[in-house]
Amino acid sequence: MKKIIMGISIFAALITMLSFSINIEKDHMDKSLSAKERTEVLLAKMTLEEKIGQMNQYNGFWNVTGPTPIQGDAAKKYKDLRKGYVGSMLNVRGVDEVRAVQKIAVEESRLGVPLIIGFDVIHGYETLSPIPLAEAASWDLEAIKTSASMAALEASAVGINWTFAPMVDIARDARWGRVMEGAGEDTFLGSKIAYARVKGFQGDDLSKDHTIVACAKHFAGYGFAEAGRDYNTVDVGTSTLYNIIFPPFQASIDAGVKTFMNSFNELNGVPATGNKFLQRDILKGKWNFDGFVVSDWGSISEMIEHGHAMDLKHAAEIAANAGSDMDMESNAYVDELANLVREGKVEEALIDDAATRILQVKFELGLFDDPYKYCNKEREEKLLGHQKIQKASLDMAKKSIVLLKNENSLLPLKKKGQHIAVIGVLASDKTSPLGSWRIAAKDGTAVSVLEGLSQYDGNKISYSKGADLILGTPDFITEVKINTTDKKGFSDAKKTAERADVVIMVLGEHGFQSGEGRSRTDIGLPGVQQELLEEVYKVNPNIVLVLNNGRPLTLSWADRHIPAILECWQLGTQSGNAIAEVLYGDYNPSGKLPMSFPRNVGQLPLYYNYKNTGRPTLPAPDVVFWSHYQDEKNSALYPFGHGLSYTQFEYENLVVKPKANGISVKIDVKNIGKLTGKEVVQLYIRDVHASITRPVKELKGFELVSLAPNEVKTVSFTLTEKELGFYNNNGAFTVEPGLFRLFVGGSSKTVIETSFDFKG
Ligand code: NOJ
Repeated sequence: MKKIIMGISIFAALITMLSFSINIEKDHMDKSLSAKERTEVLLAKMTLEEKIGQMNQYNGFWNVTGPTPIQGDAAKKYKDLRKGYVGSMLNVRGVDEVRAVQKIAVEESRLGVPLIIGFDVIHGYETLSPIPLAEAASWDLEAIKTSASMAALEASAVGINWTFAPMVDIARDARWGRVMEGAGEDTFLGSKIAYARVKGFQGDDLSKDHTIVACAKHFAGYGFAEAGRDYNTVDVGTSTLYNIIFPPFQASIDAGVKTFMNSFNELNGVPATGNKFLQRDILKGKWNFDGFVVSDWGSISEMIEHGHAMDLKHAAEIAANAGSDMDMESNAYVDELANLVREGKVEEALIDDAATRILQVKFELGLFDDPYKYCNKEREEKLLGHQKIQKASLDMAKKSIVLLKNENSLLPLKKKGQHIAVIGVLASDKTSPLGSWRIAAKDGTAVSVLEGLSQYDGNKISYSKGADLILGTPDFITEVKINTTDKKGFSDAKKTAERADVVIMVLGEHGFQSGEGRSRTDIGLPGVQQELLEEVYKVNPNIVLVLNNGRPLTLSWADRHIPAILECWQLGTQSGNAIAEVLYGDYNPSGKLPMSFPRNVGQLPLYYNYKNTGRPTLPAPDVVFWSHYQDEKNSALYPFGHGLSYTQFEYENLVVKPKANGISVKIDVKNIGKLTGKEVVQLYIRDVHASITRPVKELKGFELVSLAPNEVKTVSFTLTEKELGFYNNNGAFTVEPGLFRLFVGGSSKTVIETSFDFKG
């Protein structure tokens, strides 16, 4: 037996040597070879340190998006670039800067391996589209895809070829500031949007000069930070992990995503960055992901603070063994990994695997054939802020607006003969509408609401800011300071409102009140704005409340008193134009909420697809023993999927029938109002009894339809095992026959209902 094993080993060694010598004879610059072959050839030429170098990502020297573990060590970075010990850089931008670092990597290092250049292109580069949560409110997958492709077009023109987007974390807690960056609370909608965004960034051919690599983040569980406090502990069970958190990541892989980012949080006791179960067993094992995983900023070294790693070297060992391929700014791999391999603590095969994954993506991008392909000065000048990008941004902005309430059809506004008072400092703000995560956009480049309204000249507009929202000039890194005392402008605002036919109040959050590190415990209107609203209401209740915010807010008072409420999020560069078009009815709003708006912050986490509990209803008048609050309803103020139009829709003739591979559903939707409008037809199911309890409602289909007055359209859906099944507590997909309830309508609440028996 021993002899046989020895024979096999010698044979294997010969084969390796043979392929090694074949590989060094081949040239990785030979374009006739596939990306995979070229990677193999190149890898065979690399030293251990050079391979580890590919796993090292440095920040540019001038911009940080987190605390830099080694502050300002630029000399070391330059030295490492020359040695070929850097695989990627982030926050290097602009053709000149990218060319400069690329030149060092390509022309001064031994093998000339080009860098992949990463950047947070979250909702655009310099021209901004709405924040991702707002885009999700459009439920318009084509528009979302276009928006991502426009972001890729602009970013690729300034040298960037990799975006750290989309964030596909499902989030149910509006206190968490990063809800602005995702697609909301629902895994079905979130998965469709993840797919669209990846396709938008990457297109169908990564080697084109206008497509860039996407990154599904943050793997995994980041959106479930306890109490909505950013970076906080995550403790979730198998059912939530497989049924809620994982699907948008799987959808990203289906769309061909080339990279993943892991996350800052620990998941059930193990930091995601050092989590073998997540990265090796699930992502690279079960899901067969062949791209690479980048750590989050310094998340390898943060495993020490988590209490998981003893020191940086130990952190590097844990992360590399767990499947984190690239180290963002921890300096852990570049400083420690070679020794760990020599000591036998990390196998060289794992280094080869990581470097292979990274190099292959670079080959697919075409970087070896032309490392400066994204560094064309003319293209940069031509494409930055290009009209085509602005146009897509305006289109996306209009589609993202949600009409929450419209009593007595106060909206749309009349175009002539009106005196309109505009109140609120956000109405004139040209920076806040850009939202958070806009590292490259310049302050003051958004169209303000006042500017948008000024395009319509049939009405008289009077403006009064009422009160400041923030103090000083906020930025991406430091804490925003809110005005909580100064109300000097209230009397002027009231005087302005008193005389008007209609008052437009533009209130909400500053763009930097949401985003990374920006959690809040009170999600009402910040500062003195609630008071301003109530004061103005006393003199003129005919108010249209235009909201700017990066997360769901608590709006109970406004809902009780204000006749019209328009959710306008932070809509990016074209913000004011989009809002004006909707206010005047040149665009009929069709957005639907991707996240529930609570009545009270104490309800959080709040989501429409909750479980029923054993005590869902009041047992008898005044008896307390059921799942409820003493002081507030259980339901959302504005539920998931809610959103009105200037026209109305009627649903009828729901027909549900078994068909070959599942269930066929048909519904007639009729426009019974006077204007053409769009409706998002939503289909939900409830699996009534199952071995693992199922939510009271789960979105399983939607379609955006446009209808002229009196027009009827039949919308069809097919439910297959994919929609009817679920993951059990062993992570296995299960389909259980039995009774299902089915709901169709224009929100998760307003539905018509039937049931069917699924025979399996
Ligand atoms: C930290 C954030 O969590 C991540 O999403 C981002 O891509 C990196 N910083 C890089 O800026």
